[in-house]
Amino acid sequence: MRVLTAAAATLALTFGAQFASAAPVEIKFSHVVSENTPKGQMANRFKQLVEERLPGKVEVKVYPNSQLFGDNKVLEAMMLGDVQMAAPSLSKFQKYTKSLQVFDLPFLFRDMAAVERFQQGEHGQKLLGSLKKKGLVGLGYLHNGMKQMSGYAPIRTPADARGKKFRIMTSDVLQAQFEAVDAVPLKKPFSEVFTLLQTRAIDGAENPWSNLYTKKFFEVQPYITETNHGLLDYMVVTSAEFWLELDDDLRVEVKKALDEAIVYGNQVAAEKSQADKQAIIDSKRSRVIEITDAERQQWVKAMKPVWKEFEDEIGKELIEAAVAANK
Ligand code: LMR
Repeated sequence: MRVLTAAAATLALTFGAQFASAAPVEIKFSHVVSENTPKGQMANRFKQLVEERLPGKVEVKVYPNSQLFGDNKVLEAMMLGDVQMAAPSLSKFQKYTKSLQVFDLPFLFRDMAAVERFQQGEHGQKLLGSLKKKGLVGLGYLHNGMKQMSGYAPIRTPADARGKKFRIMTSDVLQAQFEAVDAVPLKKPFSEVFTLLQTRAIDGAENPWSNLYTKKFFEVQPYITETNHGLLDYMVVTSAEFWLELDDDLRVEVKKALDEAIVYGNQVAAEKSQADKQAIIDSKRSRVIEITDAERQQWVKAMKPVWKEFEDEIGKELIEAAVAANK
C-alpha cells in the first residue's frame, strides 16, 4: 500500500510538472505614465490582442504609473527577468547606447512626420538593434510627441529660462540643452515631477501635451510655452533572453500583436497631442503661450550648438540622416 502511494505521488509529481510547463507565459509590461496616454493605451491594446489570440498561452499584465518599476530601475529589472516588456522614452537609454541620444537633440525634427520617416528608415531601424550587446531587443518605436516647456513664470525667450531649475530625464543631451540657456537641469524620475513642481522645488519642466495633462502638471504650472523644441518618443523593449526563449510561433504572434498595438498607440498620440492641449486651455488653470518665429529662432540659436557637442558620441552620419528626414 505504502509502495502504491509512493508510486502515485511520483505520478502526480510528473503530471504536475507537465501542467506547470503548460502554464501561460507571463509578460509583465511596466510603464510610468497614466493609462489614458499613447503608451498606456498601446500597452492595454497589446494585452487585449495577445489574450484574444493566444488564450491560455500568453498572459499580459500591464503595470502603469510606475507601480511596478520607475524609470531608473525598469531596464535592470528586465535583465533580471522581473519584467518582460517596457517602453521607456528614448532619452532613458543613455547607459545602454549613445546612438539613441540623436533623438534628444533640440530642434532636430520639424514635425512628427519627419520623426516617423527617420524611425522607419534604414538608420532608425538599425537603431532598434543598438541595445543588442546589452542583452535588450528593440521591438519598435512608439510616438508620444513634441515637448513643451512649462514654468511658474511665462517663458518666451532663452533669457526667461536663465537660472531656473528644470526637471529633465536622465539624458546628458537634455542637460546640455538647458545649460545652453544658462538654466539648471535636474535629472529626476517621472514619478517625482508633480511633487517637485507643486512644492516649487523646481521651476519648470519639459513634457509632451499628454503627460502635462494626464499627470496634472498643468495644475501646478501656470504657463506652458508651445516650444516644440524636442521629441518624446519611446522604444518598446524586451530582454533577449526572454524573447529568444519564446516558442517561435508565440514570438511571431506576440510581435504581430505589438505591431498592431503600436499603430493604434500612434493614432492615440496624434489625437491626444491636440485634444490634451485643448483640455489644458479649456481648464484655464494654465496659460498656453505661443511664441513668434523670431523668439523661436533665439531658442534654436542658443540650443543648436549642443548638436556639435554630441556629434562624436552619436555619429555625424546619424545626425545627418535625421536632418534629411525633414525633407
Ligand atoms: C518622462 O520621464 O518625462 C517620460 O519619459 C515619461 C514617459 O514615459 O512618457
